[in-house]
Amino acid sequence: MSTSTVYEQIDQIRKTWGNRLLILGHHYQDSSVVACCDAVGDSLELSRLAAASDAERIIFCGVRFMAETADILIRDEAGKSCGRSVWQPAPTAGCPMADMADGPTLEAAWEYLSKVATDCPLTPIVYVNSSAEVKAVCGKHGGSACTSGNGKRVVKHFLKQGHRILFAPDQHLCTNIMRELGYPPEAVAVWHRSLPNGGLTDEQIRKARLIAWDGCCPIHASYTIGDVAAARAANPGAELLIHPEAPAPVAALADHTGSTKGIIDVIARAEPDQTFIVGTEEHLVKRLAQNKEPKVVSLRPIICNDMGLTTPEQILAVLQTWNEACHVVVPDERVLDARACVERMLAL
Ligand code: 13P
Ligand code: SF4
Repeated sequence: MSTSTVYEQIDQIRKTWGNRLLILGHHYQDSSVVACCDAVGDSLELSRLAAASDAERIIFCGVRFMAETADILIRDEAGKSCGRSVWQPAPTAGCPMADMADGPTLEAAWEYLSKVATDCPLTPIVYVNSSAEVKAVCGKHGGSACTSGNGKRVVKHFLKQGHRILFAPDQHLCTNIMRELGYPPEAVAVWHRSLPNGGLTDEQIRKARLIAWDGCCPIHASYTIGDVAAARAANPGAELLIHPEAPAPVAALADHTGSTKGIIDVIARAEPDQTFIVGTEEHLVKRLAQNKEPKVVSLRPIICNDMGLTTPEQILAVLQTWNEACHVVVPDERVLDARACVERMLAL
């Protein structure tokens, strides 16, 4: 079937659904998928859209944790789905970073750290790139989710209250946030999940303001200082924009770190004669580079395979069959704690 026939069929079916259907897509989706979406955004925008929507069915073009977050937010006060549902066209699309933390291991780390450092409360903050199970543990212990767009605000909020933070799963995002908030490197201690007691001494734990889980995004964590040097040499005078999942020594070289939306906004406000080197997933960089002005080049082209799994054909298949394999359902017993975690973020 040709792509234009696929689009025509998607349009025909969505007309029969009207406002009862919402198709959301993350910025890292391929342009062929973006063309099918009612709204495209970063994790924070998409969480907000899911929360505000009263659509009966949400088709989420992205990875698992994003669809789970939408399911958490469309439930009613008692955690019931009330006939509303979330569907993921590519049900195997996950996030390798989200898989680097699980609920029981986070719970065990939180309990251990709380016993070692008793001078102040230990509050978990979990990056929205985490499973519903991990968000539920965070919510149960009074913690909050955050995204790359609001992470600084969320971390600052709890530090200002005198809390110590256990941040999971992205060590680079929280290290970059602490640097931008003006904390010295020793304020962050990295919790190595495969080592006894996280590989940390009691003294290191007590000295730290933030304990960073040792997870990372394999895409953004692969950027190096050498990539920056090569891109700057090839594009003299260009500004460097990097996603804050990049390692701290690389992110420190950027003119601006920001979520996908943050990067898009900087480019949208720029003068036509400016050039930007962009360090984030290639589907987005390619789309930004389509406009001739300002000029956009990739720090180093790198694709998130999971984000690339969704296709317009799969969206059409969901609309035609509503195959249960694509239905994303967070187990009821996790929903209320996970929702508390996400709603604390949305309220900040
Ligand atoms: P954003 O929060 O910028 O949308 O990023 C999500 C993500 O998966 C980054 O790798
Ligand atoms: Fe996960 Fe990284 Fe892919 Fe984002 S780009 S979905 S963090 S693996």
